[in-house]
Parts: sequence; C-alpha cells; structure tokens
Amino acid sequence: MTLRLATAGESHGEAVAAVLEGIPAGLAVDLATVDLLLARRQGGHGRGARMRIESDRVEVPAGLRAGRTLGSPLLLLVRNRDATLERLPPVHRPRPGHADLAGMLKMGTRDARDVLERASARWTASLVAAGAVASLLLRECGIEVSGFTVSVGPVAGSAFPEAMAALRKARDVSAFYCPDPSVEAAMVAVVDGAKASGDTLGGVVEVRADGVPPGLGDFRTREGRLDARLAAALMGIPAMKAVEIGDGISAAVRPGSGVHDAILPGDGLPRRSSNRAGGIEGGMTNGERVVVRAFMKPLSSLREALPSVDALTGEAAPAATQRSDTCAVPAASVVAEAAVALEITAALLEKTGGDSMDEVRRNLDAYLEAARRVFPGPTPSARR
Ligand SMILES: Cc1cc2nc3c(=O)[nH]c(=O)nc-3n(C[C@H](O)[C@H](O)[C@H](O)COP(=O)(O)O)c2cc1C
Repeated sequence: MTLRLATAGESHGEAVAAVLEGIPAGLAVDLATVDLLLARRQGGHGRGARMRIESDRVEVPAGLRAGRTLGSPLLLLVRNRDATLERLPPVHRPRPGHADLAGMLKMGTRDARDVLERASARWTASLVAAGAVASLLLRECGIEVSGFTVSVGPVAGSAFPEAMAALRKARDVSAFYCPDPSVEAAMVAVVDGAKASGDTLGGVVEVRADGVPPGLGDFRTREGRLDARLAAALMGIPAMKAVEIGDGISAAVRPGSGVHDAILPGDGLPRRSSNRAGGIEGGMTNGERVVVRAFMKPLSSLREALPSVDALTGEAAPAATQRSDTCAVPAASVVAEAAVALEITAALLEKTGGDSMDEVRRNLDAYLEAARRVFPGPTPSARR
C-alpha cells in the first residue's frame, strides 16, 4: 500500500488532523512519543503568545488497537485550545509575504481570514504527529532521523557533533534546537533584538538520517527521485524558500574532482571517502547518511506593518497585524524532521512492501542480504 498523507484544519478551528494511510499493521505507537514532538514544535526561543495558549496532545480515534497499528488508515487529531474561528474579525489588508493577497484573488474574497486560517502553519502540528509515527516505523528498521537548527538570521552554528546520539543530546538542551552551544547566546541576542524592534527572522534547518538502506527512491522516473521528493516535502512547509541536498549549493562552484565521493572497497558493501552528496545519488539513497537543509524566510506578520491596500476601500493602508512569532526556525526544524521521516518511510515501504511490520522487516533483511552479495568481498591481498 502506498503511504499517503492528507491534513485538515484551520489555525483557530476546532482541531488540526492528519489521515495517514499505508502504515503496516503491528507498529507500536506510544502517544507520549508523539506528544513529545508536538511539544518540541511548540517550543524554541522566539515563539509568540499563541504557542503559550496551545498545549498539543494527539488523539488517535482510528487505526490503533491496544497501542498498535491495525494497518488501516490512522486518524491523528490535535485539538486547538484557541478555537475562536467563528468569532474572529475579517482581515481586509493583506500582509506582504503571506498567502493573503494571492489567496484573496484566487478565492474571490475580500476577507483574508478565509485564506490565512489554513495558510498559517498551525496545520504543521498534524504533519509532526504523522511524522512521529513514521519515525517510530523507521526506528524499527534501524533508521534514525534528526532535525535541528543550523542558523537563525545571521548567526550560524557549525561545530555539530558527528554521532547522531551526541547531536541529539546537544540539540535537546538548546533553546534553538541548535547542537552548537557556542552560538546560543548570539542567537538569543539577534532574536530578542528583532522582537524588540517588531521584526522577524528566518534561518536554516538541517535533517540527517542514519541507517538508511541504499536504493530507496528511483533513478527511472522524475517523480520517483528521492531528492525531488525530499525537496517537495520540505518546500511544502510554509516559509521554506530553498532546499539543499548534501553540499548541493557549494558544489555548483567547485570542480567535479572536489565534489564527488570516491568509492572504496569495504567489508560487504563498498564504502565512500566522504559524503558531499548527502547520501543521495541518481535520486536514490546510496547507503550514506542522508543530509538535507531547508532555508526559511523571515515571518511575514510584522508588528510595524508594511504598506498594503485595503480591500474594502482600495486605498493604501498598513497591512493587518496578526499575533505572530518572531522566529519559528526551531519549530520548523521539528516540522522538517517529520517531513523527511515521512518521505523516507514512503520510499522504504515502496522497496519492501509488506502489510505487517514483520513482513517489512523480513523483506528489508532479505534485500540487504542480496545487496551485500552484489560486490564480491575484497581479496585477502586487497584487504591489506
Ligand atoms: C512552524 C512555523 C510557524 C510559523 N509561524 C508564523 C507566524 O507566527 N507568523 C507568520 O507570519 N508566519 C508564520 N509562519 C510562516 C507562514 O505560515 C508562511 O510564511 C505563509 O503561510 C506564507 O507562505 P510562504 O512563506 O511559503 O509564501 C510559520 C511557519 C512555520 C513553519
């Protein structure tokens, strides 16, 4: 069964929800693990008042029995505490940088409320819930996915731990989910400075996946390419404006000899000398760590509103102001982790098939066993 995700929900409606189809039967889903990720999405230095109102908890009214998936569609529901949609005023002055203006024209309405309630990133809580389930499945298959903050405005971390466990440990004690403590104070300073002046900041998030088997994705079709799918999944997160796979951006200005990762004999599968490709070649995983980055623009709801036009009068007027975050990059790193986990899960299940987790694991083991036999082991002289 193909993994498919649909989401629903307005920012101030009753709830946001996800229907996740294609998760095999027999996966243990600990709701506390899902809630932990929902709480992380709500946190991070720079969030606004809304996130202090919400305290997200997932409910799963369909697809689970005794804490395990049935293999039927999962319904993941997160109720909004601030469910004031029916009482909120109309919005007639579109905010530059938001979905307001294009959405008003598209939907034929002078009230941007009809647009911004869905365009707001509140629905990404349901994406995080679905991603949490995907991450549980991946863990059962030996795959770990971690998202973190690389930079906020002009302040960038760089000394990130190599090992996944150490990376997570450093990330989880950071107010920015940035596993480089040396930049924390500077991040606090730029975000607090932006907040004081009514401004907003963007930044960069990275997602790494370890233990991903080679051959997920496809070189045969455009839509099968995993790099294309990861880019689409990350660009599907509001405010993301660019995606980089491995050293993709700097590779464009370097010669090929300084970009491509040499292939070396290994015990079983060949090894690589480096991982500038970010674990993906030919639209497929190559067995190395998957590394992707997403670039987030500064949020568009500004306290000092930019010029706009009032849809009722046609006159110039400052854009509407909405309760807003100063910087949502840490939250976006949690959403990006979910988006990547879902995409890798979809590609994994395409490779393995399987209606139950037992069948998925059996098929995965059989595939890896066969892959290890593609290259003969090195001769004793080559080993030296
Ligand atoms: C986790 C997260 C939180 C966000 N919070 C806000 C916010 O508080 N204020 C705001 O103006 N935009 C916020 N955004 C961004 C808007 O949703 C986004 O800019 C808008 O939907 C327009 O889409 P675009 O930026 O992709 O063009 C947030 C995005 C994410 C991923």
